[in-house]
Amino acid sequence: MKKNLFTAAKPTGRLTLGNYIGAVDNWKKMQEENNSIFCVADLHSLTVNIDPQELRSNSYAVMANYLACGLDPKKAVLYYQSQIPAHSELCWLMDCITSMGEASRMTAYKEKAANKNMVSVGLFNYPMLMAADILLYDTDLVPIGEDQRQHLELARNLAIRFNNKYGETFVVPQGVYQKVGAKIYNLQNPTKKMSKSDFDNSGNILLEDSIDLIKQKIKRAVTDSESEIRFDPQNKPGVSNLMSIYAVLTKKDMKEVEKFFEGKNYGALKGEVTDIVIETLAPVQEKFNYFMSNTDEIIKIAQDGAEKIREKAENKIKLVKQKMGLIF
Ligand code: TYM
Repeated sequence: MKKNLFTAAKPTGRLTLGNYIGAVDNWKKMQEENNSIFCVADLHSLTVNIDPQELRSNSYAVMANYLACGLDPKKAVLYYQSQIPAHSELCWLMDCITSMGEASRMTAYKEKAANKNMVSVGLFNYPMLMAADILLYDTDLVPIGEDQRQHLELARNLAIRFNNKYGETFVVPQGVYQKVGAKIYNLQNPTKKMSKSDFDNSGNILLEDSIDLIKQKIKRAVTDSESEIRFDPQNKPGVSNLMSIYAVLTKKDMKEVEKFFEGKNYGALKGEVTDIVIETLAPVQEKFNYFMSNTDEIIKIAQDGAEKIREKAENKIKLVKQKMGLIF
């Protein structure tokens, strides 16, 4: 029997090569075998300081990239989180079974809240909204990058806690992580993940970057003072990151990659990585540009997508309310 799959990206910026390798390219394969829902988590974007115009254009761009990367509305549901109010509603119900302690332990929250003048309640609530996203649709599988592991564990704990207290209601979801490439790092700071939410994108390859910009960013990627091309993330994070990118995009395993680069220098590594990144992104960019100039198609796809799952979400909310003793 097909499994239910749910995953999302938040439109706080434009998708990066990290999102492609760690997430979307894998989702494309998984849509073939599962009942898949691919969400653009626009409500989550409100946890950062983002102006409406930017949010709107990022929201179009993330959906355009989903489509350009091969997520297919004929095979899967694509929609925006804010189209279905049940997400926000379930978030509140999840809030009420989450302890302050466990929410305060979320490392993404701690990192994002550090050194900020204003930390919103929304940022604190972020993981409970994510749990709601997942639990609304009886999700079995959640393909995500390593950085989301702790959030997924919380979603699992909340599902189990709810089921124990109120009776069997939620499917306990399982995270699906890629072996190589589950985390792609910033080219300028290779111990930090490549992120679309950064202010400075010099170390992030965006899926929309021009060929010249991609060349420049990879050329300037930080390496180390040795010359040997060896996969050793601890001691050689920059080189290992470039090797991971190369391995995933050429579908080679790391042993093969090490052998291929034996005796070659860092210039050769960067040249090969540049070529494969450009080759991978060229067809994606062509489709992306098409959708960005036809945003009416994006709206239609998202509306159709939301209509397919609205009832399921509403029924789940009714069930949860009934179990919790709310009258509706
Ligand atoms: P987001 O938007 O940060 O990232 C989307 C997906 O891309 C993965 N990812 C990466 N993988 C490898 N290397 C990287 N450098 C890298 N950066 C990002 C992320 O792990 C993620 O899988 N909270 C989520 C969005 C979300 C969600 C959900 C996900 C909202 N609701 C429900 C799953 C289920 C987020 O911010 O992802």
